[in-house]
Amino acid sequence: MDILAEIARLKAERNALILAHNYQRPEVQDIADFTGDSLELARKASGIDAPVVVFCGVHFMAETAAILNPDKRILSPDPTAGCPMADMIDAAQLREFKAAHPGAATVCYVNSTAEVKAESDCCCTSGNAEKILAHYEGREVLFVPDQHLGSVVAERLGREVIVWPGYCPTHARIRPEDILELKAAHPGAVAMTHPECAKPVRDAADEVLSTGQMCAFAKKSAAKEFIVATEEGILHRLRQENPDKVFYPVSPWAICPNMKKTTLEKVYFCLRDNAPAVEVDPAIAVRARRAIDQMLAWS
Ligand code: 13P
Ligand code: SF4
Repeated sequence: MDILAEIARLKAERNALILAHNYQRPEVQDIADFTGDSLELARKASGIDAPVVVFCGVHFMAETAAILNPDKRILSPDPTAGCPMADMIDAAQLREFKAAHPGAATVCYVNSTAEVKAESDCCCTSGNAEKILAHYEGREVLFVPDQHLGSVVAERLGREVIVWPGYCPTHARIRPEDILELKAAHPGAVAMTHPECAKPVRDAADEVLSTGQMCAFAKKSAAKEFIVATEEGILHRLRQENPDKVFYPVSPWAICPNMKKTTLEKVYFCLRDNAPAVEVDPAIAVRARRAIDQMLAWS
């Protein structure tokens, strides 16, 4: 069986759209209608025409698409592809956190469950966190679940942000010496890192960028070599979009096992079976949507 031809046939038959995150396997990115970062995918998901969407990413991303499109069928090729950072805080823990800081605004990274979004005033992604938090000037802000993105925004805005101690296990594997060694070997290379990296890693890099911002930066930069301190899946897009430039992965360990769960076979099966679809409790979805809509309105 020619799996690519079968996917194309089923996709046309179901009038389906395939969305993929920048960390997906190269062959999955290649069959997607659109590949992007969390913010770009959330934006795409808010204006979908197709009745069926195959979301190649992790669960919170497909869940966000489902919340924004209650009338569409959002398929998840592997519903077990979660995000360990998103699971580092639940709704009960967030309610306790809020109770300890009455009057504070709550901003949640989009890497969170629908229940946590439902308890939050606004969502953000790594691409718009600063813009979102600027709207809460003069107010105490609780930021969940990523301590590192929360600290980046606090540093950039020059104010205190009370962060939840969550983190990404994949970005936690990246060490400052990984960047420093590559810089020594390639002195002309610009080091780009993701805000989910810890401060010593960010300090060793030249730029702190979301995955979408990395793609835009690499395109417009005059530099010819780049050290890429984030999940390795993004190298595929960077190399495709910049064939004249060289990209060095920061470490062989920067691989998100959940992002890699989506394979061409699973995309084929979910198109064939029109399942599994993402389901969100409608009462939670309505409340979570307010936080997502607020983010989209401000970004
Ligand atoms: P981006 O929003 O930069 O794509 O990041 C999403 C993510 O999960 C990073 O680990
Ligand atoms: Fe979650 Fe980290 Fe994987 Fe992103 S890279 S989906 S934050 S575990």
